[in-house]
This record gives sequence, C-alpha cells and structure tokens, in this order.
Amino acid sequence: MHNVLVTGGAGFIGSNLIRHLLWAEPQLRIVNLDALTYAGSTMNLDDLPDPSRHTFVRGDIGDRPLVERLLREHQIDAVVHLAAETHVDRSILGPAPFVQTNIVGTFTLLEAARHFWIGEAAFPLDHVRFHHVSTDEVYGPLAPLDPPAVEDQAYRPTSPYAASKAAADHLVRAYGRTYGLPVTLSNCTNNYGPRQFPEKLVPLVLLNAVAGKPIPVYGDGQQVRDWIHVQDHCEAVEIILRRGRPGETYHVGGGAPSTNLALIQQLCALLDDKRPNSPHRPHARLIQFVADRPAHDRRYDLNLEKIAATLDWSPRESLASGLAKTAEWYLGHLEWVDSVRQQPGYVEWLERNYGARERSA
Ligand code: NAD
Ligand code: TYD
Repeated sequence: MHNVLVTGGAGFIGSNLIRHLLWAEPQLRIVNLDALTYAGSTMNLDDLPDPSRHTFVRGDIGDRPLVERLLREHQIDAVVHLAAETHVDRSILGPAPFVQTNIVGTFTLLEAARHFWIGEAAFPLDHVRFHHVSTDEVYGPLAPLDPPAVEDQAYRPTSPYAASKAAADHLVRAYGRTYGLPVTLSNCTNNYGPRQFPEKLVPLVLLNAVAGKPIPVYGDGQQVRDWIHVQDHCEAVEIILRRGRPGETYHVGGGAPSTNLALIQQLCALLDDKRPNSPHRPHARLIQFVADRPAHDRRYDLNLEKIAATLDWSPRESLASGLAKTAEWYLGHLEWVDSVRQQPGYVEWLERNYGARERSA
C-alpha cells in the first residue's frame, strides 16, 4: 500500500482517518476525493501531520472520468471508501442524494477500480485493496434479547440511509466474488469524537446544553446504540487495510451500548462537572422529548469477536473517557463549530427536522 485514495476525507471519520494514516504509515501518500457537501470542510484538514503526503481533490465519487484519472495519475493501489450521505434524518426528508452517492457513487468507484486494476492490470491483484466503510444500521433493529449481529447476518435495513449503505455493501461483495476485486468491508457502530458535524447526536447535545437550548430526545429515548470513539475506528480500519483478508467483512465497535437517554444524561452530567458555574446546570433539565424518528430502530449491536480473534483489534477508549475528551474538543473549538454551521442550508435543515416535531412530554 503506497498511494491511497480516501473518499470522503473532509468529513468526520475520513479526516480523522487521514490524520491517523499520515501519522501511522510514514511512506503512505494520500489522495483525498471529497465533494465538500454540507458535511465536509477543508478546515478538518488543517494541521495534518506531514501535509506534503496529502493531496486534496474536490470532486464527486460519481464522476467516473475524474476517478479514473486520479487512479491512473497517482498510481492508486488502495481505495478506502468513506464518502457518503450519512444522516438518517436527512435520508428520511430527502433520499435522492443517498441513492446517488451511496449506491451509484460506490458503483462508479468499483467500476473504475476494476477497470484500472483488473482491466489494465496496473498492479498484481495481491498488491491492491478496496476497503469499504459501512454501518451497523444495515442489519436493522435487534429485539432486546437478540444476540449482537454477526458478520454474515441477513440485512434488514429500515431507513433510506441504511438501505443505500446495504445496497453499496452488496455491490462491493459482488465485485469481490464476480470479478475477483480484492475487497474488504467494515461495519461500524455509532462514532463520536472531534470534527463530527454538529447535527449528529453527541455534538448536538453538547452544544445545545452549553448554549442552554433544549436537547431533543426522539421518542422515549430508549433506543440502544453502541458508541465508539472515532480514533478507535480509524485504528481498526488501518489494521484491516494492512492485515485484513480479501473478501472478508469485519465488525468494529466500542463495546459500549447505551440508550440514547442514558448517553444524553451522561453528557449532561459531564458538563455539570466541567462547567460548575454554568447558569444551565443541571444541564439534564434541558432534555425535551420530541416526536420520534419514523421507523426508528430500537436497538443495534455488533458482535466484535471476529476482529479481536483474527486481527487482534479491540477498542481502547472507554465511553466515559472518550466522551470527556470529545466535550473538551468541542468546548475548545467553538470557532470550528460556528464556521461549519454556516454551511448553506444548515439553518433551514434545523427548521425542517425539528420544526415539525412537537414537544411530546
Ligand atoms: P460525514 O457525513 O461526516 O462525511 C461524509 C463526507 O463525504 C463529507 O466530507 C462529504 O463532503 C463527502 N461526500 C458526500 N457525498 C460525496 C460525493 N458524492 N463525492 C465525494 N464526497 C462526498 O460522514 P462520516 O460520519 O464521516 O461517515 C463516513 C463513512 O462512515 C460513511 O460511509 C458512513 O456511512 C460510515 N459510518 C459512519 C458512522 C458514524 O457514526 N458516523 C458509523 C458507521 C459507518
Ligand atoms: P444521529 O446522531 O442522528 O445518527 P444517525 O444518523 O446515525 O442515526 O442519531 C443517533 C441516535 O440519536 C439515533 O437513535 C437518533 C437519536 N437522536 C435524538 O434522539 N435526537 C436528535 O436530535 C438526534 C439528531 C438524534
């Protein structure tokens, strides 16, 4: 692995991954293809370690001539595919870009890689890798007593986001089986950490609480998610790139399941400690139950035994320490928050998503 194309590298996980790979792999050169949608920002790429090994290209993964040119020009021998539309609520209010980017975009990347690596025999196939980053949401909801999902469990996605990621996963596996493209996949649980766009739950709760604004809890808040610090996820992806077997899927998670309400209460308590003089203490009194997300899956959880047993990876950060570090980061980067909130359409998005959700308790 010498020249890696990372897609979606100006977003939350992608920018953390690029930072990690530049630090961990001193020989690696990275081309970062990102369309800079509302979720991407070049500010996420400030202060990269050894920036001379990183090339940013603004563009769409669905632009086949562009992708082919990048593969050839930079002699790309690994693709790490993260670019996606990622917010479930946005997928409910407007699914079209999810189909376009997550399905058609993934298909375009696969075709370009197949053409370059197999059609043109650019490298021996055992020297290349297409790694696809996916989500636990493809499995759909687990019942309270179900065991955590295993890697070959059937897919039952319920949101347009999850369905589009499921379709992409199927395409990636099909390219592995049909054409012999050396693919790996990882399905990961909910990430939190620095540079996550502030409409996602963890930064939303932290920033609303600090500002004394209501903290919206969808439904009864008893939905269960597993939470992983983004740095742990990045280390897992690096290990899969280096040691994962072509054709295999690996689950990645924090091993820290929580109900949404418990997580929100934990964040509020953390701020109570960090900001003893805040007029908004106790922050938990800002919690407001609002109308539920349609088809809101009650529980996700992943079995993490395979990656531990075969690649010797397990998460390092505990939920308590990871959330504390994340709160520190957001409180120390309010300029970043202000700036990314100025993305076109952000205020309209808040109105569309929350305006119609009447307070339910
Ligand atoms: P994000 O929304 O923060 O970033 C997505 C990035 O992709 C943005 O920089 C955006 O500009 C870019 N992008 C969107 N459409 C594009 C296109 N057509 N062409 C090029 N770039 C485009 O997302 P994230 O949270 O960093 O997620 C990254 C990946 O990880 C996604 O594939 C997501 O499905 C997966 N994932 C995320 C989580 C999570 O909790 N955040 C969990 C599991 C899996
Ligand atoms: P979110 O951060 O939106 O991520 P995703 O798009 O992957 O679902 O949501 C995480 C969980 O938090 C999910 O169960 C929905 C819930 N949630 C709320 O209760 N209130 C909110 O305002 C948001 C944004 C999410």
